[in-house]
Amino acid sequence: MPGYDVAVVFLSGRLAMCIKESSSNRSHSSTEESPAGGVGATPGVPVSVTITRPDDWHLHLRDGALLDGVIGGVARQFARAIVMPNLVPPVVSTALALDYRRRIHGAMRRADVDQTAFTPLMTLYLTDDTTADEIARARDSGLVYGVKLYPAGATTNSAAGVTNLMAHCVGALGAMQRLGMPLLVHGEVTDADIDVFDREAVFIERVMVPLRHRFPALKIVLEHVTTREGVDYVRDAPGPIAATITAHHLLYNRNALFRGGLRPHWYCLPILKRETHRQALLAAATGDSGRFFLGTDSAPHLKGAKERDCGCAGCYTSPHALALYATAFESAGRLDRLEAFACRNGPAFYGLPVNGGTLTLTRTACRVPPEMAVEGGSIVPLAAGESLPWSVAA
Ligand code: DOR
Ligand code: ZN
Repeated sequence: MPGYDVAVVFLSGRLAMCIKESSSNRSHSSTEESPAGGVGATPGVPVSVTITRPDDWHLHLRDGALLDGVIGGVARQFARAIVMPNLVPPVVSTALALDYRRRIHGAMRRADVDQTAFTPLMTLYLTDDTTADEIARARDSGLVYGVKLYPAGATTNSAAGVTNLMAHCVGALGAMQRLGMPLLVHGEVTDADIDVFDREAVFIERVMVPLRHRFPALKIVLEHVTTREGVDYVRDAPGPIAATITAHHLLYNRNALFRGGLRPHWYCLPILKRETHRQALLAAATGDSGRFFLGTDSAPHLKGAKERDCGCAGCYTSPHALALYATAFESAGRLDRLEAFACRNGPAFYGLPVNGGTLTLTRTACRVPPEMAVEGGSIVPLAAGESLPWSVAA
């Protein structure tokens, strides 16, 4: 993978005989390392990593044929996922969320995924008209775990999103604060006069700060944080706030969008940022704060919807998600932090148990296919045709 120009640095993929680390008493993860100085070894680089079964705290599963096409790859790695509600039409009520949940279970059946192997955690799509009663119904269902704020016009299928949060959503937000229902935020302003690379930082100033001043006990996840400003804010703010981080924002800076030509499969929203922001995200994901956790924002679109004039935003990463994250964590020399990020911090924030079971990654090359067939077309995954240094063991 020609990674240097986009800041992915791969170590040598050579394997050597390995020794098992003594089991750690501070983490359930374990690594197998190449012995320092061994013939063909890459000293200090583990040849396998075993973590508790992880969760994806931000995922687009889509519907219909796309859902059928992607569900197997998700369930192979993740025990649970927060499922985004930006369908057409959007999932604006508990009744629609429960219908969608049934369709996900149907897709699991068709893909031979055991019904207990994967749990979709449903969300509602916040609109100007969402009522406090709807929030109470969502909470009472026991199956809705968050409410997603899309500023109207911010991204894919956000036309029905919120036009003015404080003008229209105070009733719903109050109910969410009272009932402990998290608000999941797409943190970008949509004003045409704000530079696309500044939209997150401006959102924090203009929307997040006043929102948290008014609702200091509201649980908030700043989804797919992409900037140093976002990381600093989430790390240091008082009260219940956290952020998800995608694999693509950890691995790539904005140069990836233009590597040898225009690269639509690296186009997502929030858009990839400068290298200084990528460095801040990597430090946050691999650092001490428990406020950062895994959310792929894997967002599949058919190939033709990406490779055209006015192509859709979204990177399809779910089939190789753990390999991508492991690559990023290895680049920071912090594979030991992958388990907290992927398996522990998210459940702690949502008040859910940590999963049972484990997932093992081995440091063997995994080739990302050029495209993946689904009924009616194909999806091009991120890093298509390239080789990743990590694979999920069968
Ligand atoms: O790149 C993105 N794609 N960002 C989003 O916020 C939405 C997503 C999608 O649904 O395609
Ligand atoms: Zn998303």
